[in-house]
Amino acid sequence: ARLRAEAPARRVLSRAGIPVWVVTRYAEARQALSHPGLSKGVDGIKKAIDAQVEPGAHRVEYVDDLQSHLLNTDPPDHTRLRKLVLKGFTPRRVDDLRPRIEEITARLLDDLAGTAEVELLDQFAFPLPITVISEMLGVEEDRHDDFKKWTTALINGVDADSVNSAGRSIGEYIAELVARKRVAPGDDLISALIEVADGEDRLTEPELISMVFLLLVAGHETTVNLIGNCVYDLLRNPQRLAEVRADPALVDDAIEETLRHESPVNLATMRYTAEPVRLGDVEIPADELVLVALGSANRDERRFERAAEFDPARSATGHLGFGHGIHFCLGASLARLEARVAVRRLLERYPDLSLGVDPAELRWRPSTLVHGLEELPIRLR
Ligand code: HEM
Repeated sequence: ARLRAEAPARRVLSRAGIPVWVVTRYAEARQALSHPGLSKGVDGIKKAIDAQVEPGAHRVEYVDDLQSHLLNTDPPDHTRLRKLVLKGFTPRRVDDLRPRIEEITARLLDDLAGTAEVELLDQFAFPLPITVISEMLGVEEDRHDDFKKWTTALINGVDADSVNSAGRSIGEYIAELVARKRVAPGDDLISALIEVADGEDRLTEPELISMVFLLLVAGHETTVNLIGNCVYDLLRNPQRLAEVRADPALVDDAIEETLRHESPVNLATMRYTAEPVRLGDVEIPADELVLVALGSANRDERRFERAAEFDPARSATGHLGFGHGIHFCLGASLARLEARVAVRRLLERYPDLSLGVDPAELRWRPSTLVHGLEELPIRLR
């Protein structure tokens, strides 16, 4: 909020000591997300980081085998990859998951019965999206916990060793899984991605492995916070909770409002200026790193009245919670579907739900990228 009051974009030092421009106001954030001069090419980003830090100061390796994915490419490569992936990740495939999402949700809610107090993230909000994305891709059930551990290490990003080792473990496992699906395809998304072709064009092996990696990480670490942050927002606002209970159709609006008010992805992924870029009245020189602060833009009073207030009945349309432009979240419809089912069924099943601790005691995860609570203790009755 302080940076946003001062300027639309500011050069600050990241926790790792790297200078980065942070775009905090809505209009400039939206402009940045679709600006062709802001590149996501991984080589340019590496070069920009190397130019900013002392040699050896930046210890996070890039696991090269996992880098050829959508969030590291610009057109025309991005256009080609996205087109191929969308042939496998179809709206139909997402719609078809609804009964299974209902089933998993019902089972998780059954498991909570009989306990007066639960930790909602660990016992409900985490297992739902992990199970869904893992089943969708065909990851074996006994590896779900490993994935949770690895992706948490990657996203929290607190020390270089754990990030690098988690990246290597995920990469090795996905390569093995893809090799198995080539021999024995199933009715899963990996098998579909192996099959998809656009004329002669297909995903190469590194592209396939990187895409599965991106889907798994995105599918694990974001939806959990959409569900958690929505329940948190509702329980902290009894008036809003009463309104949503009175009109369950408002659950969908509460999810959209959470994407704006407590955006599960705080900062969009890294970009760099391939040429000088003007955002509003700020000119960013070439070869600078840029982060778009989605959470901040979504609370910009210039765009949303009473921006700090959680109000499902407002129209949160236009929020940047899923990004904007060519990199707009590929999994948005899946995330919305899971969160809507989860929150609706939770409120139905446990009408007396309340926060288990004073809100002041809740702590947010240390990640600068994702925005979610460490724990969310809930009383069911
Ligand atoms: C991209 C947010 C769930 C797959 C993005 C971006 C955001 C985002 C902000 C753009 C990043 C940027 O421009 O730097 C979210 C949120 C989610 C969510 C808030 C849940 C609440 C998912 C799920 C999947 C997914 C469940 C897949 C199963 C992707 C992919 C991209 C992406 C593949 C890259 C798209 C591209 O570059 O063309 N997401 N995401 N996301 N997301 Fe999501």
